[in-house]
Amino acid sequence: AESTGSGVWRYVDALPVESGVSIEEGNTPLYEAPTIEDEVGVSNLRVKHEGMNPTGSFKDRGMTLGVKVAEKLGTERLACASTGNTSAALACYGARAGTEVLVLLPAGKVAAGKVAQASLHGARILEVDGNFDDCLDIVSDLANRGEAYLLNSLNPFRLEGQKTIGLEIIEQFRDQTGDLPDRIVLPVGNAGNTSALFKAFRELVAAGELTAEEVPTLTGVQAEGAAPMVEAVETDADEVRRWGEVETIATAIRIGNPVNAPKALPAIRETGGTAISVTDEEITDAQRALAGDGIGVEPASAASVAGLRKLRESGEISPDENVVCLTTGHLLKDPDAAAEAGVEPEPVPADTDDVLEHLAE
Ligand code: F0G
Repeated sequence: AESTGSGVWRYVDALPVESGVSIEEGNTPLYEAPTIEDEVGVSNLRVKHEGMNPTGSFKDRGMTLGVKVAEKLGTERLACASTGNTSAALACYGARAGTEVLVLLPAGKVAAGKVAQASLHGARILEVDGNFDDCLDIVSDLANRGEAYLLNSLNPFRLEGQKTIGLEIIEQFRDQTGDLPDRIVLPVGNAGNTSALFKAFRELVAAGELTAEEVPTLTGVQAEGAAPMVEAVETDADEVRRWGEVETIATAIRIGNPVNAPKALPAIRETGGTAISVTDEEITDAQRALAGDGIGVEPASAASVAGLRKLRESGEISPDENVVCLTTGHLLKDPDAAAEAGVEPEPVPADTDDVLEHLAE
């Protein structure tokens, strides 16, 4: 009964535990984006909007498993480093489980909505004078010293839950188009989703539900100011070089050390995909374009559409492809970025004639 309505737990056969701490995560919409589809010119474009999860990001899919496993282990304190969304999800699921939550955030670099969520759900919030990668170093140390149970994407149970993004995409795309997606374009931070989607598809192949040729091409997008995965793909490197300095408007993916790179590089290479970087301006333009199709996302999510636009221009993505863009977080996560990208409110007097006059100007 605990799991009724969850889009994660309907795939229980694909998961390593039999139930979770659930608040009906998953089952997110696969939207059409007709204006963007026309503009870029691909066969079918769909947007998988993970911002429609209970706490407004895909992180809920991992936490429903991870927090349950922590409960089974009898851990007393759950902890994560976060650019914001992980902390919001962990605070929420930890509250639901009745377990203490500690989150480490890079001071001044987390969007307002995310801090508000962690705060209201009652997490203890440490604002670290450093970036996300510093926070993850510290929280990993804490976990290794037995002070807390780690719920970043280094935790394999998190990624098991996030596999269901891939399972839902295949099912929904088939239902809507009668076809399969050729390519999935997604924002990359720690590359957890890239790794999780690849695992989901390999398992579908092993189960005989997809052929190896049908596995979608995984295409990662990073912000220009935080693009160590792109560097590794472009230079055909075996390992990703950690970037000490990172900056982007897409604070969710302001990450210099993608910890899942050892799993994500094969995911990109073996599916015939690539990785590309986009500028902050291209991210904001894509955020506006998505909003114009009625899909409200935070900047990191819009990186996927910015990447699609660029790869269509370069010809890397061909016009006959079926493409899914993954949008990972909701518009309201980062109200400041939304207001900055959107139209200016206009002050008017509290009088109908004045309002009409103002509209006529
Ligand atoms: N998009 C959003 C909105 C995110 O919050 C994150 C990661 C990503 C994309 C990157 O996903 O790590 O699977 O490549 N946010 C983490 C956090 C780091 O702390 O909330 P990935």
